Amino acid sequence: MSLYSDNRRRFQAILNEKGIAAVIPTNTVKVRNHDCDFRFRPDSDFWYLTGFAEPDSWLVLLPSKDGGKSILFLRDKDPLQETWQGRRLGIDAAPDSLDVDEARNVDDLWDTLGELLADHTSLMWRTGNDEGRDRRMLEVVADLRRRARGGVQPPVELLDPAPILHELRLFKTEAEVELMRAAAAITTEAHTAAMATAAPGVNECEIDALIDYTFRRRGSTGQAYNNIVAGGANACILHYVENDAPLVDGELLLIDAGAEMDYYASDVTRTFPVNGRFSDAQRAVYEVVLRSQIAAVNAVAPGVPFLHIHEIALNELVDGLIELGVCQGTRASVIQDKSYSRFFMHKTSHWLGLDVHDCGTYTADGKPRKLEAGMVLTVEPGLYFDPSLDGVEPKYVGIGVRIEDDILVTPNGHENLTAAIPKTVDAVEAACAESALATAR
Ligand code: GLY
Ligand code: MN
Ligand code: MN
Repeated sequence: MSLYSDNRRRFQAILNEKGIAAVIPTNTVKVRNHDCDFRFRPDSDFWYLTGFAEPDSWLVLLPSKDGGKSILFLRDKDPLQETWQGRRLGIDAAPDSLDVDEARNVDDLWDTLGELLADHTSLMWRTGNDEGRDRRMLEVVADLRRRARGGVQPPVELLDPAPILHELRLFKTEAEVELMRAAAAITTEAHTAAMATAAPGVNECEIDALIDYTFRRRGSTGQAYNNIVAGGANACILHYVENDAPLVDGELLLIDAGAEMDYYASDVTRTFPVNGRFSDAQRAVYEVVLRSQIAAVNAVAPGVPFLHIHEIALNELVDGLIELGVCQGTRASVIQDKSYSRFFMHKTSHWLGLDVHDCGTYTADGKPRKLEAGMVLTVEPGLYFDPSLDGVEPKYVGIGVRIEDDILVTPNGHENLTAAIPKTVDAVEAACAESALATAR
């Protein structure tokens, strides 16, 4: 049994117990320009339940006391279309290949959905993702209501998948953690290669390409999000993706890039000197972020409130900003007056999984949620001295540092999935001194 059918069985068991029918579609192919499409990426909920990466597929799960039924709607084999657009699994092969009870042609979806959903009074359907699909789904429901006089029971509640499905996705199984470890290993190789390759005059785009090359040649499904390869002050733009400026001697390079493995993400940031040696000012800022990041990572354990990780990181950053002379006052006063927020404007963590900013709530019953074994989160404090800010000592202007690791909560504490990527000043400088040739094997 694949990890995906295992996921589906656990989900189906809850649907059976609660008497809920679910309809989960994947993505469609999106036009990039004229008649060229973006590379397809399946919907994460759908992938989680099927492990099937073809577009225009729908999973219908019907509950029953004796195990329920899974029906996959997919495109059938079509030699002409397959010649132009790629191979298809096809209806006949789908049940064995994907371990579903039944496979049907997606062309028949809207004509048969009503019949399948009749007499299921609870329907799980995620509204708000696609207006056209919402409209058609509501037409199916309205049609079932019109048939009520004939004895059909229409759905009377429309449920969002999040409380059940996203709660399952939040807790990773051992098989999922293995994929995240594999993604982390590829990401480790990419960041290490980037450290060895960056040098004054090399362009950000070359490092961007090296990262992609490393991801794909090691079997990654690709980037988990757009690579950020930000030299100098570009690091102060949190979602910088132009990645097209030459790297400058004496500046830092911030790289936020993570590989996906079977669509499971990693999300890692490292910051290092373009010429291989931190200046005194760069080192001073880097050491503050590093101290903050290590303190926050060390705090990850079951029972710790999610927000506490941010508070620990923030305390350390604020202490550091005061030591650097950038903020004035005490830790409490700087946090109170938020003067730190010009230099640290984001939160420290988010869930990680099939989506880089993964599903799962951050509060429970109105209170900050506590960490539990099986959750994976990032820890990513940073300090950014954007040139547009007033009153910053010149030696810090243009410095942007973020350090980010992926942390699995374990029964007794945590496992840093990305611990192998150089992080201390000495380790980073040693990795920068490695020959690029040595890492390009
Ligand atoms: N790379 C996106 C993030 O760190 O949240
Ligand atoms: Mn992140
Ligand atoms: Mn990141």
